Amino acid sequence: MLAKVETLMLEMVASLKDARSVELFHKVPKGKRLRAKLILKIAGPSPEALKLAAIVELIHAASLLHDDVIDDAFTRRGEASINAQFGNKTAIMLGDILYSKGFSELTAMPQDVAFSISNAVALLSLGELLDVELSHTFNDNLEVYFDMIYKKTASLIEASAHAAAILAKKQSHKYALYGKNLGLAFQIIDDILDITQSSEVLGKPSLNDFKEGKTTLPYLYMYAKLSSSDQNRLLGLFQKELSVEESTWIKEKMSETNAIGDAMMYAKQLGFEALRVIEGEDDVGLASIITDMIERNF
Ligand code: IPE
Ligand code: IPE
Ligand code: MG
Ligand code: MG
Ligand code: MG
Repeated sequence: MLAKVETLMLEMVASLKDARSVELFHKVPKGKRLRAKLILKIAGPSPEALKLAAIVELIHAASLLHDDVIDDAFTRRGEASINAQFGNKTAIMLGDILYSKGFSELTAMPQDVAFSISNAVALLSLGELLDVELSHTFNDNLEVYFDMIYKKTASLIEASAHAAAILAKKQSHKYALYGKNLGLAFQIIDDILDITQSSEVLGKPSLNDFKEGKTTLPYLYMYAKLSSSDQNRLLGLFQKELSVEESTWIKEKMSETNAIGDAMMYAKQLGFEALRVIEGEDDVGLASIITDMIERNF
């Protein structure tokens, strides 16, 4: 069924009748397609659900094109990012093309589906803006971090589950809450993997978050447990290109304070909470989405 989603995505881009954008779109590697899988599991492979899955993956791809410009990231999905290959201007415009094509396709969907997805994209953009603004100084506020990851990542996953449930005439608020918890956990795991995995495994730069000024959940947990002299040492490394010795020190402190373990525990709790919300609903494989999400290493 995912093959059908890939075909639809390509057809949507090709319908603009612009050879250059089709050519560039072919240079965007495929991701894990988590959002498409989620939609198809909830709604089944109806023509409308397949279309929704394609739209959401186009929108998600657009958000990554912009995100790699924002994060100065030169690899994505195991290849040189579009900004690395063709420059920021091309990456931004290809992102705009995918976003706007996604929106024009959404206009043919039921109005509540279209509103849910487009509103989530507004939240995603607010979240990316907040992420950038928070990165100017060392954020040590957990609540602000959770608000930011809800907006930048969980909102689109929440809306995907919500919209799929609307198409399938299921209890959409339950699936929305499942999606929100899944999405929060998903971003926390992404933030953990930035620290624990190599760039090769991730297919994108590792240890990039702290360098970019992002104090993700493991950093917040670690910071709260460090002595004041270690806190100062960490503050001194903020936004810096880290030497091998410095990144080793950060990883040692992560392990001493069990910050990664605590962040993982929190992500798992969110995963359990997601499943609790849909208890009693038809089992369409949403439990395996949670376990795959938690156990992934990229
Ligand atoms: C990456 O999303 C951006 C985040 C929200 C963490 P994915 O990890 O779903 O990216 P792909 O689509 O599989 O590459
Ligand atoms: C980006 O978060 C989430 C988006 C909404 C695009 P990240 O910046 O952590 O995503 P990666 O790690 O680059 O995939
Ligand atoms: Mg990024
Ligand atoms: Mg980012
Ligand atoms: Mg990340």
